Amino acid sequence: MNVSELQQKILELKKQKDVCILAHSYQAREICEIADYTGDSYKLSVDASKVSNKNILMCGVRFMAETCKILSPEKTVMLAQPIAGCAMADQMDKALISEVKKSYPDHTVVAYINTTAELKTICDVCVTSSSAVQIVNNIENKDILFIPDCNLGSYVKQQCPDKNIKLLNGGCPIHACVSTDDVEAARKAHPEAELLVHPECTPEVCAYADYIGSTSGIMNYAVNSDKKEFIIGTEISIAEHLQYMCPDKKFYLLSLKLICPNMKATTLYDVYNCLNGDGGEEIELDDETISSAKRCIDEMIRLGQ
Ligand code: 13P
Ligand code: SF4
Repeated sequence: MNVSELQQKILELKKQKDVCILAHSYQAREICEIADYTGDSYKLSVDASKVSNKNILMCGVRFMAETCKILSPEKTVMLAQPIAGCAMADQMDKALISEVKKSYPDHTVVAYINTTAELKTICDVCVTSSSAVQIVNNIENKDILFIPDCNLGSYVKQQCPDKNIKLLNGGCPIHACVSTDDVEAARKAHPEAELLVHPECTPEVCAYADYIGSTSGIMNYAVNSDKKEFIIGTEISIAEHLQYMCPDKKFYLLSLKLICPNMKATTLYDVYNCLNGDGGEEIELDDETISSAKRCIDEMIRLGQ
């Protein structure tokens, strides 16, 4: 089967089986094309809470599928590729953060959505990269413990100077690998281009940026800008999607290190096999985990409006 034949089969199967397909913007183009919803983590969470189909198939990473299950416990939620985890979400667990919390009893615990469902059960509110500044500003408490990403946390700290934000030493190994040398080389090669970066990059890299934002934020900025050239400082799939969306503009990669193996693990065949009942993994969470983790996701949606 070629790509379009496979896509056609997937579209038929998902209709027959009442499946809604969600795809994060880091997924391959051929997967985004057959998805009902695409976007950044925040948009996918909001979309997932409104899905009317009986079944959800997540093309992304495990914490995203868990978020869908938490928001729609009555639905069958499948992760298209079971090995697709998130290196950042796996860095901190419930036992570690329970210990850390003892030193910060009066702090509101803000968890980046890139955390496990189990860890979310002991946090107060979730944020995504696109909603973090607004949500932290909307939290009444001045004292915040922000986990796990110290780079996104530094960005939020800068944007919310009235808050007292404690950071831990976690982050995305993919985005954190980009260096200021990479920025200087890309700027030199493309002097007319604007630099758009994800806040998971280090503060040193972000300091050079013309725009800092989530995956959707970066895409919207580039699409709506009058500028013609952009250096993209997030997972390389975003530059590819943008090139198709704006053929009259040019998109350059900030660094070849910006490839997330977890996000790249899902193939169109995985989606097909999963719909055929021959692959993927059903996300199962117990009722207690769902209800405790849901509090902080509901809080995110409430404070993000
Ligand atoms: P967004 O919230 O921008 O979708 O980012 C998710 C992610 O995993 C970035 O590495
Ligand atoms: Fe996780 Fe980083 Fe991959 Fe995003 S890019 S899914 S934060 S490992």
